[in-house]
Amino acid sequence: MGVARRITAPGRVNLIGDHTDYNLGVALPVAIDLGTTIEFTDNDSDHLTFFSTLYPQGIDLPRGLDLDMDILKNLEPPWARLVGAMIATVRPEHGGIGRIETTIPVGAGLSSSAALMVALADILGAEGSPRTIATLVQQAETFSGVPVGIMDPLVCAGGLAGHGLLIDFATLAIEYVPIPESAELVVVDTGVRRSLRFTEYASRVAECEAAAVTIGPLGQAEDADVAGLRDPSLRRRAHHVVTECARVRQVAAALAVQDLPTVGSLLVESHRSLATDFEVSTPELDELVTTLCAIDGVYGARLTGAGFGGCVVAVTRPGAVDLDRFPAGAWRLVPSDGTVAASAGSVSGAPGGNPEAAAVAG
Ligand code: GLA
Repeated sequence: MGVARRITAPGRVNLIGDHTDYNLGVALPVAIDLGTTIEFTDNDSDHLTFFSTLYPQGIDLPRGLDLDMDILKNLEPPWARLVGAMIATVRPEHGGIGRIETTIPVGAGLSSSAALMVALADILGAEGSPRTIATLVQQAETFSGVPVGIMDPLVCAGGLAGHGLLIDFATLAIEYVPIPESAELVVVDTGVRRSLRFTEYASRVAECEAAAVTIGPLGQAEDADVAGLRDPSLRRRAHHVVTECARVRQVAAALAVQDLPTVGSLLVESHRSLATDFEVSTPELDELVTTLCAIDGVYGARLTGAGFGGCVVAVTRPGAVDLDRFPAGAWRLVPSDGTVAASAGSVSGAPGGNPEAAAVAG
């Protein structure tokens, strides 16, 4: 009791495969070297208090908080909903005080929420494989009022340095795909944050569910099934998911032979599909993709994450993009390990790595 512990969970960038996770399809995300760190000291109280460097007001929540959506989604300030949902899910044995800091831009589509939740799950005492932790986090986020898929926490918990994760959401099997050293991952922020984001996200989830009633999970459907959908809007949504899953597999194959031009053109096709068939792009995202693709040494670019604002990811030759050109934020990101425990005082020090991932990857 009373000993400080620190945990860092990374954000993620999705290289390709958006809006496929809740459709039981496939995606190829990467854990990144931006992350959220919590330092936590437990005590004998019945309360958990958290402070964040991002928000002036700390939060104080009872240890026995109920896993009740009506209570959780009305907590204030809004980030207390996530923390409360995780407390109610894990049911920690002790109270305590935590300090949170992050290098992930919040709300930019780089999984700031999942990184916070994965780090919280660990600090509050949840144990298990990346799949177990990701399932807990997905459940908690859903109770906080946002019906997200499982991709983000699975990557934050299960990432592996130097690799992307080819995830099959029907089985939650992960294949670790080496990212060639000749490929640089650049992420550029539009700076646009849409408050409607989750309403629109939820409406895409509902549309996909409606299509699945007729043709089954979209991630396992084929072109011929899609043609059988009568509603033109649902047909477009399903067409995106089916073609996106095919592109994910093609990108994994192209990465294996270091064929970066093919990876790049698949990224551009993915963006087009998200913009026209799935309708989750914005003029700012489209413009950034066009700007990036016009730069010598950029193989391709696409919006990444849910859409409706946030970031674009590009695969480039090393050093091709001048990050200073992008005032809302731009990063060269290094494929990184999942949740990393470090002793207090050495957050950025020797990473513990991800033994489960390392075993799978050999
Ligand atoms: C958000 C969700 C994920 C996933 C993506 C879109 O990041 O949290 O579960 O659905 O959008 O691919």
